[in-house]
Amino acid sequence: MSLDLHQRWQIGSVEIPSRLVLAPMAGVSVQAFRRQARRFGAGLVWSEMISSAGLGHKSRRTYEYLRIASDEHPLAVQIFGSEPALMAEAARIVEAAGADLIDLNFGCPVRKVTATGAGAALLEQPRLACRIVEEVSAAVSAPVTVKLRSGIEPGSRTCLELGPQLAGSGAQALVLHPRAQRQMYGGKADHSLTAKLAELVEIPVVASGDISSHERALELIEAGIAAVMIGRAAEGNPWLLSEILSGEPTEPSQAQIAAELVYFMRETARELGDRRAGSFLKKFYGWYSRRGRFPRQLRRELVEAETLKDAERLLLAAAPGAEDLLARLEADIPRPTEMAL
Ligand SMILES: Cc1cc2nc3c(=O)[nH]c(=O)nc-3n(C[C@H](O)[C@H](O)[C@H](O)COP(=O)(O)O)c2cc1C
Repeated sequence: MSLDLHQRWQIGSVEIPSRLVLAPMAGVSVQAFRRQARRFGAGLVWSEMISSAGLGHKSRRTYEYLRIASDEHPLAVQIFGSEPALMAEAARIVEAAGADLIDLNFGCPVRKVTATGAGAALLEQPRLACRIVEEVSAAVSAPVTVKLRSGIEPGSRTCLELGPQLAGSGAQALVLHPRAQRQMYGGKADHSLTAKLAELVEIPVVASGDISSHERALELIEAGIAAVMIGRAAEGNPWLLSEILSGEPTEPSQAQIAAELVYFMRETARELGDRRAGSFLKKFYGWYSRRGRFPRQLRRELVEAETLKDAERLLLAAAPGAEDLLARLEADIPRPTEMAL
């Protein structure tokens, strides 16, 4: 049977319509970003990591991460922490908010997180890591998944020992970013480890790291990997998702880029409010300008614009035809409903 990224697959009882998955990225994976990725073909989208302690303390800011719209399902919501009981409680809250999958972060390399015993620190605590999976699985009916790195030190193969144990403890899928914690984002993701892990467990294994082409995605699926996760390559480039999915090269026009960005800006402002959206969006102006898509001068003006409305005007003035495309996006994309928090 020939493999194709459009094939459906499942994690536990959750049906996923394509083999393309959007990565969790802190400071990036807001609802507007996830909904955009669904429109461009991602079969499953991921929230950024949410602190189990923050949920436990009922922190308002942490709860804001739980805004889930009706058109982003299936959605995995990721939590981090190192206390099994707190993680189980956080998972209940996340499930009640509407998450289809509960994902556990066992890979975050950042010191602030590992210093508390969470994230990648759990790679060296297999008994605790398995207890977290067991307690969370017992607390919720949604499938529980784990996203992990290869190990702590470069060259480590810890994931090949820990992965099967996590599956034995109840994890229903594993996502491997095959870099060591100490590599942060340096070096290359070694997906020979991901393929090996997929051989060792019966549950789906998703590959994360350095995937940015249809050919690479197919190669990984052919190696027995259930789905490919796309992170940085999708920042400011949702067209790449449909290109990876279909194998058809996609080069959007300036008008399409400007219309999509303005639509994304409006969605982000609806979600975060104008002030927070204004600073959140600055990095996106740079990302949307990559590949020479906008002149440097325009990018600078966007970053310096005082209000979102000013930035919008600059974009629409720079790309004739964008206004009509934007009106079409506003008319065609149904308004989602949102679950109350
Ligand atoms: C800015 C940024 C934030 C990230 N935040 C998270 C996170 O919250 N949870 C997580 O599991 N991984 C996180 N990651 C890792 C990504 O999900 C992904 O595994 C990694 O970037 C490799 O994939 P890529 O090469 O497709 O970007 C983050 C990565 C970046 C660049």
